[in-house]
Amino acid sequence: MPGESTIAVGITGASGAIYATRTLAALLCRGVQVELVVSDFGRRLLKDELGDDASIENLVPYLSAKYGVEIRPGSVTFHSNRDLGATIASGSHGCRGMVIVPCSMKTLAGVAHGLSRSLVERAADVMLKERRPLVIVPRETPMSLPQLRNMVLCAEAGATILPAMPAFYQQPKTLDDLADFMAGKILSALGVDHQLYAPWTGRVKA
Ligand SMILES: Cc1cc2nc3c(=O)[nH]c(=O)nc-3n(C[C@H](O)[C@H](O)[C@H](O)COP(=O)(O)O)c2cc1C
Repeated sequence: MPGESTIAVGITGASGAIYATRTLAALLCRGVQVELVVSDFGRRLLKDELGDDASIENLVPYLSAKYGVEIRPGSVTFHSNRDLGATIASGSHGCRGMVIVPCSMKTLAGVAHGLSRSLVERAADVMLKERRPLVIVPRETPMSLPQLRNMVLCAEAGATILPAMPAFYQQPKTLDDLADFMAGKILSALGVDHQLYAPWTGRVKA
C-alpha cells in the first residue's frame, strides 16, 4: 500500500542525469517506495550522460551496482509518462511527495501553468493541489525571463525550487561528491533523513 514512505520521482530531459540516479539510490536505500516516471528526453539523457548501462531498462541493476544499494523487489514502480490514468495521477493515491530531477524548462513551464500534459506534469499538479511537497530541480543556463517567471509561479503554488547548483564549500573531489550534495538537498526538502554530506560546521576543512 502506498503511504508515508512513497515518493514519486520524475526524470525529464535536462542535463544532470547523475542527480536523478543518486537521488533514486538514496531514497531506495532509506526504504522509500518509489513511483518513477521518466519522459522521453529523460530516457535519452540517462543514456547520453551515463551510458547504456543506465538506460531505463537497466536502471535498477545500475543503481545496485553503482551505489551498492540492495533494492527490494517491487520497491520501484515504473510508469509511462503517457499514462495519465496511472495511480500517481490521482490525489487519492497516498504518495507523500514528489521530486522532478532534473527538471527541463519545458516541464517546468507545464507545471507552472497546470497543463498536466504528461504524467510528470499531472503528478506534480496533484502534489500542488493536495498541498504535498513538490521539489523541482531545474537546470538551464542562462535563464530567460519566462523561465524565471515559471519558477516563481511554481514557488507561489507551494513547490520548492531547488536548482541543480551544487556547492563547493564541501570541497568536492568527484562528480559523485557533487551528486551526493544535490541528492542530500533533495532528500532534506522531502523530509527524508540522510548522510549524503556532512553538516556545515562553520569552517571549511583545512
Ligand atoms: C543532450 C540534451 C541536453 C538538454 N539539456 C537541457 C537542459 O539542461 N535544460 C532544459 O531545460 N532542456 C534541455 N534539453 C532540452 C529538453 O530535453 C527538451 O526541451 C525536451 O523537450 C524536454 O522534454 P521533457 O520535459 O518532456 O523531458 C536538452 C536536450 C538534450 C538532447
